[in-house]
Amino acid sequence: ETVEWEAASFDMGGHDTYMHKEMSEQAEAVDRVLRGRIDDRFSTVHLGGLNLDAREARGVRRIKILGCGTSYHAGMIGAGLIEELARIPADAEPASEFRYRNPVVDPDTLYIAVSQSGETYDVLAAVQELKRKGARVLGVVNVVGSAIAREADGGTYVHAGPEVCVVSTKCFTNTVVAFALLALHLGRIRDLSVADGKRIIEGLRKLPGQIEEILAMEPEIEKLAQEYAGAQSMMFIGRVRGYPVALEASLKLKEISYIHAEAYPASELKHGPLALIEPALPTVAIVPNDDLLEKNRAALEEIKARSGRILAVAHQHQEKADHTIVVPKNEDELDPILMGIPLQLFAYHTALAMGRDIDKPRNLAKSVTVE
Ligand code: G6P
Repeated sequence: ETVEWEAASFDMGGHDTYMHKEMSEQAEAVDRVLRGRIDDRFSTVHLGGLNLDAREARGVRRIKILGCGTSYHAGMIGAGLIEELARIPADAEPASEFRYRNPVVDPDTLYIAVSQSGETYDVLAAVQELKRKGARVLGVVNVVGSAIAREADGGTYVHAGPEVCVVSTKCFTNTVVAFALLALHLGRIRDLSVADGKRIIEGLRKLPGQIEEILAMEPEIEKLAQEYAGAQSMMFIGRVRGYPVALEASLKLKEISYIHAEAYPASELKHGPLALIEPALPTVAIVPNDDLLEKNRAALEEIKARSGRILAVAHQHQEKADHTIVVPKNEDELDPILMGIPLQLFAYHTALAMGRDIDKPRNLAKSVTVE
């Protein structure tokens, strides 16, 4: 598998920042990761480089996903997708934590390393340690031929194209879509029905158009960002599918605006962080129209009862929220792919309103190739 990266990709192409350019490329990037992989006849997907045949895939008892930063968050959503679609127990962990705690390496566990650059030291070292112990490691990587891609036993490229801005946007989205493909592939080898496979494929095909719809909301999101840009600190909440979306959105805001932000599972609010809620601490809430909608609405009520301001990202207007960004609905499992995108724009415009150097945030590097 090779990808030709044209010199034009590194050009700003009329955008003021690489981040803006890269956010705006997400529909075509998702189209690229889907292309040529969908098999309508068997309602599944083919991932050429996995090096994992059907029998081996059936033997996998557990999946452990490792990454850093935004890639770790993409891995969290990936773990959720694998559990939902393939019913294989899966979780994600920061690669460095994994290395330092002398993990139990289990032969029936499939390890997946996630990295945009394919060069992050903590991830590479985790892969090498795992391989030394005889584990099977796949890579979900963007940069073709990178160190992690070469070390892994197989895997899939995410085909986001070159990403220049230090903070990751289009690669995050494409990585999550790549995980959806992997989850569907594993699911169809195991117990996911043809009908459910078809339903997910239809959902995947809708993504590029829905991403365009979200990107078209930029002027509205820009206004909201200007309204919240004065905050000293922000809370992000989500539940199950929405929690990693909240984590990633809070990371984006921290990285480029330097506003302090925390992300919590909505259910954990009452176990501590509710003490922080007051008018000066706005909350961004991920509120998908799924089976947890009522639970999430109850969390909004809790916040409102403490006079907290709320910006909801939802599939319909939320009465308890001060503002709602209404995003297009996809299949429940795929909603996390879309719900983070308006919050990339939100972080972007917040940072812009504050005059930050968006492509080169202070103290950060695009890839951290040292320990
Ligand atoms: C650095 C970047 C983050 C990135 C992380 C992992 O810390 O600042 O934006 O998410 O590395 O990078 P990778 O290339 O492994 O995805």
